[in-house]
Amino acid sequence: MGANTAIAPELAAADKTKIDAIVKKFKDRQGSLLGILEETQKQNKHSYLAEDVLSYISFKTGVPLTRIYSVVTFYSFFNLKPQGKHNIIVCRGTACHTKGSKSLLDDVAVLMGGEKELEGGEPSFTTADNEFTVRTVACFGQCALAPVVAIDGVIYSNVTSLQLRKLVSKISKGRN
Ligand code: FES
Repeated sequence: MGANTAIAPELAAADKTKIDAIVKKFKDRQGSLLGILEETQKQNKHSYLAEDVLSYISFKTGVPLTRIYSVVTFYSFFNLKPQGKHNIIVCRGTACHTKGSKSLLDDVAVLMGGEKELEGGEPSFTTADNEFTVRTVACFGQCALAPVVAIDGVIYSNVTSLQLRKLVSKISKGRN
């Protein structure tokens, strides 16, 4: 990573200060770009990396923006859109598909009001109140337990539509 003489992209002063501190913390560390991106996402209220934030990281580190984008799009744990407080991940791999994961995903989309996004080909959607993000994954590596769904980091196996509705309604309590 090298110094950058370009003009700093527009970003709120508080955000710049935060990123400056993160870049300083990871200076000269191996894999520092990954660390910087991870830490920056962690400190974001909605757990994502906005375009202007990535531009500023590029400016501060001297790493070309195209390279930063190739990193954040390669690793599935980076988010380019705001994430909900709760995460629901439905596996769409072959084994899970065969065991009915498409209808599980459709059920969640209906429950959360995200049918349009999924029909439009979006791989994920976040509810308007930022409470839930629903997305898919190619495989959890637990194909023998298909269909598999993860909710807030907990893996559920052999999930049925009824079980999924119960799990979702448990975390939706209090939501209008
Ligand atoms: S296909 Fe779903 S866990 Fe592998």
